[in-house]
Amino acid sequence: PHDLNCLTISELQKHAAVMMDKQTRDYYNEIDTSVNIFGHKNSVPLGVAPTAMQRLAHSDGELATARACKKMGIAMGLSSFATTTLEDVAEASGDNPHVLQLYLFEERDHSVKLLKRAKAAGYKAVFLTVDTPILGRRNLEIRNQFKLPSHFKIPNFEGQGDNQPEAEAEQRGQGATRRGSEAGYTDGEGNRVVPQGPITFHSHAANPTLSWDRDIEWLKKECGDEMQVWVKGIATAEDALLAVHHGVDGIVVSNHGGRQLNGALATLDALPEVVAAVQGKIPVHVDGGIRHGTDVFKALALGADFVWIGRPVLWGLAYKGQAGVELCLRLLSDEIRLAMGLAGVTKVDDISKEYLVKIDKSGF
Ligand code: FNR
Repeated sequence: PHDLNCLTISELQKHAAVMMDKQTRDYYNEIDTSVNIFGHKNSVPLGVAPTAMQRLAHSDGELATARACKKMGIAMGLSSFATTTLEDVAEASGDNPHVLQLYLFEERDHSVKLLKRAKAAGYKAVFLTVDTPILGRRNLEIRNQFKLPSHFKIPNFEGQGDNQPEAEAEQRGQGATRRGSEAGYTDGEGNRVVPQGPITFHSHAANPTLSWDRDIEWLKKECGDEMQVWVKGIATAEDALLAVHHGVDGIVVSNHGGRQLNGALATLDALPEVVAAVQGKIPVHVDGGIRHGTDVFKALALGADFVWIGRPVLWGLAYKGQAGVELCLRLLSDEIRLAMGLAGVTKVDDISKEYLVKIDKSGF
């Protein structure tokens, strides 16, 4: 193989004819990387974060990701703006845990329908994304004039608001955001804004009206006992305390992979204050910039219970569909085991901040 970095540890050993002696092999096998999440055993403390429109990366899209996750025993998050129905992803996932990422729409009917379908399809939780009151400025999307090609659909909203890709809707003179009077929010110029019509990521992901009292309570009622309610996009102790106060089941410390506010705190820097505020009352997960097993180890050492990865999975998917995602997950799983082994930890629960060294900011 021309790229040794793409070999898992067992493949590498075969390739390099490196044999572990029995003692080393026993130690290696003793390392238990698994954790419990949503009542299931997850092979590593890592899940696949929800990322929209995966068929742009590979024609098998979210199905390839779901199959790879199932094979690897790794939880998957599905974006509301997936290019595959949530039912098809649930079927491909089988009993491997899957959660649905949610943007809460002003037209509650759309959200109600989605939640009903998710419950029926066996989703364990909804992850309400709360870091998108408005869309960040995505320069690459602007430069590339990003539009979902017209042969792709966002099928979770099929038949609702006619689900036209934005390009077509705009050509027909239907701007994605219309103004109305019955719902919505008031913009900076005092106009009522009610996103309706074609459901597109750009018009519907953003919601500046989300509120703890109104929306979290509503969502918890809608999800009932069947699905947990998590919030994704917490980055401060204050918001974490509000989440606990409002009885959410868990939080994901996230800055949307840096796609929203340029200069926002790195999630690894935000994590310790969130963990300190939550005091173990609910699980704290984190995502953003996790690229190696050592990153997972550091996040856990800083108090996270679990991490999620976004882009690396998309790179694997673009490289080789399901096999590419499996390779990505295998490499990370191997690296987690290796990091634990080198640190001398055999259980995930034993990873603690004692394994980290704080470098004095002055450089000494
Ligand atoms: C995302 N992310 C995201 N988050 C979300 O709540 N709903 C979504 O639809 C999407 N879509 C999406 C598309 C793409 C292309 C990317 C890269 C990211 C954010 C995602 O869930 C996660 O927070 C970050 O990707 C984590 O950072 P890393 O691992 O990509 O660095």
